[in-house]
Amino acid sequence: MGRETLYQLSAAVYRNIGESDIASMFPEGEALLAASRKQAEFLIGILGGPPIYMEKYGHPRMRARHLPFEIDESARQTWLRCFREALGDGSEWRLSPEEAAALLNWLEAFSAWMVNQAPS
Ligand code: HEM
Repeated sequence: MGRETLYQLSAAVYRNIGESDIASMFPEGEALLAASRKQAEFLIGILGGPPIYMEKYGHPRMRARHLPFEIDESARQTWLRCFREALGDGSEWRLSPEEAAALLNWLEAFSAWMVNQAPS
């Protein structure tokens, strides 16, 4: 997956987030777009591209970086839905259905580590 495509996919994910019930955790407007670029840079590294995120921000420590936010299972499901809806069947991002499914599977497992609150 090309770098530009990942920036665009993350921007689409964050647009969905901005309209979801977890929007209040996130910044708005230009800052939301900037946040989406951080996510893209992290994913670029995960997917075998250059380690842009690490070079800019240091070790990912993703669970620790999410601790300031109250993330319960319901927030996780919303987050995953925002990603799933942006990804679609993958074709818009030039991913095969298998590649899109593999990315979602990885995100489903990885996102569990970001949950830091019991259900309310
Ligand atoms: C489980 C549901 C999740 C919620 C509710 C959530 C929420 C948040 C929030 C509120 C922020 C701070 C806003 C910002 O981006 O500046 C953030 C940052 C971030 N999230 Fe998540 N997140 C979740 C899962 C994930 C997953 C699965 C990934 C992996 C792709 C991820 C990657 C990132 C990255 C890279 C940042 C920027 C961290 C930094 O450098 O400050 N998040 N997330």
